[in-house]
Amino acid sequence: MCGIVGYIGSRQAQSILTGGLRRLEYRGYDSAGIVTLSENGDATLLRAKGKVAELSSLTSKNSKVDGLGIGHTRWATHGAPSELNAHPHQAGDVYIVHNGIIENYKELKEEVSGHEFKSETDTEVLAALINSLYDSDTKLEDAVTQALQLTVGTYGVAVVSTRETGKIVVARQGSPLIIGVGSDEVLVASDASALIGHTTEAIYLNDGELAVCTANNVELRDMASQPISAKVEKIEVDMQAIQKQGYDHFLLKEIMEQPSTLRSTLNGRVIPEQHRAQLGGLNMTTDELRTVEHVVIIGCGTAYYAGLLAAYNLERLVEDLTIEVQVASEFRYRSFHLPKNSVALVVSQSGETADTLACLREIKRRGVKTLGVVNAVGSTIAREVDGGVYVHAGPEISVASTKAFTSQVAAMTIFGLQLAQAKGIGLKELDAYIEELAVLPDEIERILATKNDELKEVAETYATYEHALFLGRDTLFPVALEGALKLKEISYIQAEGYATGELKHGPIALIDDRFFEVMLIQDNWLFDKSLSGLAEVNARGGHVLAITDTQKEVDAETVVRIDTTLDLLAPLVMNVIQQLLAYHIAVIKGNDVDQPRNLAKSVTVE
Ligand code: AGP
Ligand code: GLU
Repeated sequence: MCGIVGYIGSRQAQSILTGGLRRLEYRGYDSAGIVTLSENGDATLLRAKGKVAELSSLTSKNSKVDGLGIGHTRWATHGAPSELNAHPHQAGDVYIVHNGIIENYKELKEEVSGHEFKSETDTEVLAALINSLYDSDTKLEDAVTQALQLTVGTYGVAVVSTRETGKIVVARQGSPLIIGVGSDEVLVASDASALIGHTTEAIYLNDGELAVCTANNVELRDMASQPISAKVEKIEVDMQAIQKQGYDHFLLKEIMEQPSTLRSTLNGRVIPEQHRAQLGGLNMTTDELRTVEHVVIIGCGTAYYAGLLAAYNLERLVEDLTIEVQVASEFRYRSFHLPKNSVALVVSQSGETADTLACLREIKRRGVKTLGVVNAVGSTIAREVDGGVYVHAGPEISVASTKAFTSQVAAMTIFGLQLAQAKGIGLKELDAYIEELAVLPDEIERILATKNDELKEVAETYATYEHALFLGRDTLFPVALEGALKLKEISYIQAEGYATGELKHGPIALIDDRFFEVMLIQDNWLFDKSLSGLAEVNARGGHVLAITDTQKEVDAETVVRIDTTLDLLAPLVMNVIQQLLAYHIAVIKGNDVDQPRNLAKSVTVE
């Protein structure tokens, strides 16, 4: 979702800005633009609906050597995707790019006179407000501060002025901003990946902070204009991690790298020979863990489904624990009650999802301990939780989340093991999970090596369907939900996940030739129940694609068999088959696999 890049220094801003925006494309957007300023304040504003490539062709026809500029990839909230609504927006001497939503933009628009509005956006109102406060003896940073004090909503903003061409002013409230500190140059960005190759040192802005960036200095202050000391940190993302490394799409790369990213997740945290599993960074003593009686898991989309699956493992591991899993966008507005001795697991790949962040802040406000299960290092959620873990899955560039799901479930299962150890459960359950976690990467590696071609063929059979049902029991039910999400978000086939046992309570009415059914069947204590569900679908002429770990007879149109020794964690291996199915169907349909329409990688607005 939307992206900001800014540059001030002696190099050519245009190419740095378009290069940075290309690094942010994966976050999802619908238009892009940059403005660069010469030292004497000549502005070159270039904007385009569509891809950054369109913008780059404009810069090649309007090449400038200006050393100051800001750029943006927009994910429209107010005003359709168009050149006029694309950022940067201008008012007088001021140019601004903005991530987020100005909720009181209509009221502010009433207060601003003398500006002829050209766009439908809330952002242009902010530009006009800043300009209206920016008189000849007011510094840009002071006009920005005064304007933001009148603003209600979320923002990450970068602002420049033709009147003061030696600075970029940035500020954040609810939408990330990072300041990259180079030698005699400074970059700003909404995501560290835009800074890679330019600097490894960054200042992560916090909510309510503003910075005045010149080529060789960063002055941090709060919204009362009081100075704040800047903490320069190392950027941990590297160039190789954000490149496709020979794959056609980031999505396939991220599916295929799950064995290695899962090993990173497990590294040092699962020690079979000592019958031990542990997560550093929880900031909880064993005694504190022992007192935990209730766990609430919060997330959106795939992170929510990872929580649903992890909850089955936690309840199997810890007898006296009650668990709830909540969709963040709903939970944030509920009058929820958390019993004492609760702990909240806040699950987010990007660490920037607005709904999840809002839940985190409300739960913290109530004095409940919050633990992050986050992938993006240095992200807002990771910085605001009381403790937690990075899942170490490496940058996940494709909008559809795959490797993060697997690592999130593994990390939360380790949390369950740690709780169980603290509470002193029997060694048998502990060992079973520890041993399965230890071999999980190898199991996934084997499946990926042997099944990708098969799934490419299977996808040919199902790519033309309009609808799909994903069905699973027990731990396969959350996996069915995740499989449906993967398919719908990249293939645009309407798909929904259901508990197999729920089929007869309504969804079975849907079955006809427009549908195919993905049925997840594990050869365990529920195997016969799953076969009953399969028979019900077959009896109505369903087109079933069964994904199963059994070698027994399965009466389905297509059967994808997985040879695995896993039992408790078999659902994670079955999910990899779903990931490959969705990927190959999307490729067959010619979709933009890594940046599906309408979607953003990190949903930083409500
Ligand atoms: C998953 O494939 C989707 N891209 C989406 O549902 C995503 O999981 C959700 O937006 C949550 O993102 P987060 O993990 O970064 O918080
Ligand atoms: N609300 C602004 C707009 O609609 C910014 C959207 C974004 O975050 O990209 O232009």
